[in-house]
Amino acid sequence: MFDFRDLHTRVVAAPMAGGPSTPSLVVAAERAGGIGQLAAGYRTPEQLSADIQAVRREADLFGVNLFVPEERPIDGAALSDYRRALIPYAEQHGVELPELDDIGADDDYYNEKLALVCAHEVPVVSFTFGCPTPRTIDRLHKAGASVGVTVTTADDALTAADAGADWICVQGPEAGGHRATYTRDIAPPIQPLHDLIRDVRQTVSLPLVASGGIATAEQADAARGLGPVAVQVGTVLLRTTEAGTKPAHAAALADPTRTETVVTRAFSGRAARGLRNTFIDQFNERAVPEYPAVNTLTTGFRRTLSGNPDAINLWAGTGYQHAQVESAVDAVKRLG
Ligand SMILES: Cc1cc2nc3c(=O)[nH]c(=O)nc-3n(C[C@H](O)[C@H](O)[C@H](O)COP(=O)(O)O)c2cc1C
Repeated sequence: MFDFRDLHTRVVAAPMAGGPSTPSLVVAAERAGGIGQLAAGYRTPEQLSADIQAVRREADLFGVNLFVPEERPIDGAALSDYRRALIPYAEQHGVELPELDDIGADDDYYNEKLALVCAHEVPVVSFTFGCPTPRTIDRLHKAGASVGVTVTTADDALTAADAGADWICVQGPEAGGHRATYTRDIAPPIQPLHDLIRDVRQTVSLPLVASGGIATAEQADAARGLGPVAVQVGTVLLRTTEAGTKPAHAAALADPTRTETVVTRAFSGRAARGLRNTFIDQFNERAVPEYPAVNTLTTGFRRTLSGNPDAINLWAGTGYQHAQVESAVDAVKRLG
């Protein structure tokens, strides 16, 4: 089974759903001596299968990341309030909001994707937004996978270890994109990454991968120096030539007038860190934690206004100013 200690470069390219994690990015990470992960989130099983096959043609070692589905039902009244708040902005920009009745339960094809990663014998499988059941982890082990779970607290690390995880991705509050809290509505923990690593190390003895705000070789060394076997980086790869980041998002990362990242539920209902923009300023206070329904509700903005950086999510961690236009091979090597 895969062991991080065998990596030449102790760097994991974060799975980044919504476009950035292309098969080319995943292959580049392996070429650099690290490991990359496909983001299964928001992909159909057919798309994920094609992505896995595209990576397989060029790399043996890679991972796939899955979203653990939210079990609690959506609060229809809260969702309806948020929809009402969005209507004027949607009308102003010619975006059609889905009707509430059309926003059904959505598990992001969890079972189909689990079956796929088993059938393809994907060597590394990681999870966010929750902990898979011991049965699921056992099934992945039988298919040969090394199983990782992303955590934001030491308690969650213990749950993952008890469920049979092989490694833990420790995600600090500096991270770009969604926080990996096990439930959607808790306030995302703010314990800084280095403190969190120390707590998790005292709680579980599994290999740790440190993530959140790591964008320079010094930061990567400092995080690994606390014990983790590798670092996982996302934001620093967003402008690389292999990433599938939307052009407006990639440009915003380099825009000197954007000077702040904030955590918001405005786009999906789950807390996530991104560059501050008009959409966040207008809707952060009104947003409700009804993930994934809020994500479905706001899909039209991302589709119709994909070139408008003030209308779309610009996920970014605190180290976003270090994201450069370069090959991901060079970026991963630099952090190794
Ligand atoms: C654009 C973007 C998309 C992300 N999508 C996912 C995802 O699908 N699954 C996941 O586990 N983490 C996802 N993350 C979080 C990363 O795994 C990781 O925690 C984060 O990138 C680390 O912080 P950094 O961005 O400061 O390097 C995403 C991050 C970004 C920036």
